[in-house]
Amino acid sequence: MVFLAQLFLTLCAILFDIASGQQSTFSPARPPAIPLAVKSPYLSTWLQAGKDGGNGGYLAGQWSQFWAGQIAAWTGMIRVDGTTYTWMGAPSGPQTVTQTGLQYTSTSSIFTMTVGGVGMNITFTSPITPDDFKRQSLLFSYLEVQVTSLDGQPHNVQLYTDISAEWVAGNHNSVAQWDHGVTPDGIAYHKVFRQTQLEFSETSDQADWGNWYYSTKNSSNLSFQLGQDIVVRGAFEANGTLADTQDTNFRPISQNWPVFGYSSDFGTIRTETHSTLYTIGLTQENAIQFAGQSGIVPLPSLWTSYFSSETDAVSFFYNDYGEASRIARGLDNQIQKDSVAAAGQDYATITSLAARQAFGAIQLVGNLTKQYIFLKEISSDGNIQTVDVIFPFHPVLLYLKPELLKLLLDPLFENQESGQYPNQYSMHDLGSHYPNATGHPDGKDEPQPLEECGNMLIMTLAYAQRAKDRAYLTQHFKILDQWTQYLIAEALIPANQISTDDFAGSLANQTNLALKGIIGIEAMAVIANITGNTAVGANYTNIAHSYIDQWQVLGVAQDATPPHTTLGYGLNDTHGLLYNLYGDRELNLNLVPQSIYDMQSAFYPTVTLQYGVPLDTRHNYTKNDWEMFTAAIAGQSTQEMFIKELASWINETPTNFPATDLYDAQSGE
Ligand SMILES: *[C@@H]1O[C@H](CO)[C@@H](O)[C@H](O)[C@H]1NC(C)=O
Ligand SMILES: *[C@@H]1O[C@H](CO)[C@@H](O)[C@H](O)[C@H]1NC(C)=O
Ligand SMILES: *[C@@H]1O[C@H](CO)[C@@H](O)[C@H](O)[C@H]1NC(C)=O
Ligand SMILES: *[C@@H]1O[C@H](CO)[C@@H](O)[C@H](O)[C@H]1NC(C)=O
Ligand SMILES: *[C@@H]1O[C@H](CO)[C@@H](O)[C@H](O)[C@H]1NC(C)=O
Ligand SMILES: *[C@@H]1O[C@H](CO)[C@@H](O)[C@H](O)[C@H]1NC(C)=O
Ligand SMILES: *[C@@H]1O[C@H](CO)[C@@H](O)[C@H](O)[C@H]1NC(C)=O
Ligand SMILES: *[C@@H]1O[C@H](CO)[C@@H](O)[C@H](O)[C@H]1NC(C)=O
Ligand SMILES: *[C@@H]1O[C@H](CO)[C@@H](O)[C@H](O)[C@H]1NC(C)=O
Ligand SMILES: *[C@@H]1O[C@H](CO)[C@@H](O)[C@H](O)[C@H]1NC(C)=O
Ligand SMILES: *[C@@H]1O[C@H](CO)[C@@H](O)[C@H](O)[C@H]1NC(C)=O
Repeated sequence: MVFLAQLFLTLCAILFDIASGQQSTFSPARPPAIPLAVKSPYLSTWLQAGKDGGNGGYLAGQWSQFWAGQIAAWTGMIRVDGTTYTWMGAPSGPQTVTQTGLQYTSTSSIFTMTVGGVGMNITFTSPITPDDFKRQSLLFSYLEVQVTSLDGQPHNVQLYTDISAEWVAGNHNSVAQWDHGVTPDGIAYHKVFRQTQLEFSETSDQADWGNWYYSTKNSSNLSFQLGQDIVVRGAFEANGTLADTQDTNFRPISQNWPVFGYSSDFGTIRTETHSTLYTIGLTQENAIQFAGQSGIVPLPSLWTSYFSSETDAVSFFYNDYGEASRIARGLDNQIQKDSVAAAGQDYATITSLAARQAFGAIQLVGNLTKQYIFLKEISSDGNIQTVDVIFPFHPVLLYLKPELLKLLLDPLFENQESGQYPNQYSMHDLGSHYPNATGHPDGKDEPQPLEECGNMLIMTLAYAQRAKDRAYLTQHFKILDQWTQYLIAEALIPANQISTDDFAGSLANQTNLALKGIIGIEAMAVIANITGNTAVGANYTNIAHSYIDQWQVLGVAQDATPPHTTLGYGLNDTHGLLYNLYGDRELNLNLVPQSIYDMQSAFYPTVTLQYGVPLDTRHNYTKNDWEMFTAAIAGQSTQEMFIKELASWINETPTNFPATDLYDAQSGE
């Protein structure tokens, strides 16, 4: 019966695909959402793919969306021999082109299409340049469209694209204003912005300040038009060209929907390739409000240190495509090669999808003397610089550029060391909402004392080890030691509190949380030794080793079959992912005996569900960040199991938002 049901479903799927004419391949997987322009918390536009709300991963036929779900309309149409088709978005009217493939890499999403004898390659590239602050500072992304005749016949072709004003503000009743211009070196741009600028404000997570630029190269074949959606798109459909006019009736985003269009006339094309490049990006003079050592100050976007004007930045980015692509392909290849070598293609499927999403959560700010990186806690509550969100993020920085981790930790140290946080333990975040890193002078941030003290100690040492930066440890010794006192008092027998997995509720004596605290104490022992405080180092080493011996009695269900660590002390029927063990290996501490690693590694396969091992026994959901921490230190077959399950989740989950870190390990929802 099961077989017959599956056969029936398979037949339905084939029939559905034939009926819709859709036959795209997806390589290396069909992710829940496909990154289009993903560069920072405010430049984050995706194509929803999972069936919960997306169409399965087809660029034409649905609107692209800001990560939080609101539409950020991005339209693509093409006229081939007088017939208009849609290749991106969902404008009413034209039939869609046929998508034949999607491939994603760490920096790019590449669609291939066929339409009326013509082939299209559509490449979205969001650069990641950890070694190059000038390029990393720009919140811009590329869209390249290549067109060629596939059937050898000549075809008359015009290409169209627009963005709507939905990009510029989350409240669609706010008034948009716009302008069109050409830079001295010939880059045409549409500039669109919220008429009333509200610096540092957000609506539905979109920024309420700054200017958006949609650009392409000016040429005799380019026409443009700014106006109502049906007027501008209708002009292209009717004529294959636009009127070179602007409707200057600035109005609410949703009133007669203003759009900002370009049309390129290729004339008659044959087998040569016609390539057109567009760039989309956001410029904000100031990016962050920060309560640093001199009180609350606005911090400039770092690009303002490299460019004298917004249009200079637009020109540089546009003209840099050759070099930017070369750097992007280099990073793509590096991540692909290293991931395959570390754990196979399934691992590369995960890492190459994660790269843009991870870097899309951060922004470089400051000036040429002092830079900071700020991180937004995306898709939960918008906190800024959340320590336990930096924690799952930090391995990608250790891999690509450890110095960037320092720039993330610096604001946390600066705020707390200048006496602006009253608690003796580490703060949870630097402000309840991005982009206001204004701290918690009342000490009433979400309390995760054990979690965050452990995280700060582990990440600070991890950075210093890899960057060989002893001075950083000396500089912050005092507050690191203060946090260690908290751990010495609280880590072995954790009070009833939440961990980073706050959604799961609070609990006393959490085995995994205790482990993080004990590892934090040992990390401080290493820090003390490195900085010449050897008596302190010897003392903390003794404490950490004594605690870990006790922890192995308190936290292990020794008589269970097979034995495993528990969710909480004495709760022998419970279990959970012991992801905090990762810190022991990461810092090369050898604090925890290999027998614990081996025991856990043997245990996880006995409790796995379809798409992963549950976070703990309270629920069937899991967290893929903690799964990967767990996999990293597991034996080979267990590691392969975790990675295979997550790669298949990416490919099969019906969820349609950018890859979540929290999902049901059985259903994939
Ligand atoms: C798309 O890219 C592939 C691989 O680089 C190339 O072979 C093909 O000619 C390109 N097609 C178009 C339409 O440019
Ligand atoms: C940031 O703080 C400013 C006041 O300085 C406020 O107007 C703004 O709404 C805050 N932004 C967010 C996202 O809460
Ligand atoms: C755009 O390019 C066309 C064709 O080269 C030229 O006539 C026009 O002056 C340019 N526009 C600007 C503003 O430079
Ligand atoms: C097509 O072009 C003609 C001539 O420029 C113009 O009068 C007409 O309004 C255009 N059609 C549309 C739908 O814009
Ligand atoms: C511009 O249009 C002309 C005439 O239609 C065509 O010959 C030429 O190839 C086009 N140039 C580009 C860059 O598409
Ligand atoms: C650079 O940034 C630092 C840190 O915000 C600030 O103290 C310094 O005054 C800035 N320098 C200049 C030249 O603006
Ligand atoms: C936590 O564990 C300790 C040691 O087993 C025990 O004494 C204490 O009662 C436990 N606390 C709670 C709230 O269960
Ligand atoms: C720190 O140094 C002391 C004294 O040399 C030594 O006993 C201890 O094992 C060291 N601790 C670590 C974690 O390296
Ligand atoms: C070891 O450290 C703890 C916690 O700071 C402290 O109470 C204790 O006195 C220290 N022991 C020695 C021998 O220094
Ligand atoms: C849990 O198991 C340990 C040994 O694995 C045993 O000492 C302890 O009594 C058990 N606790 C309960 C509540 O059954
Ligand atoms: C996990 O899923 C199974 C099967 O759907 C269900 O029976 C079980 O109650 C769930 N467990 C929890 C903890 O929700």
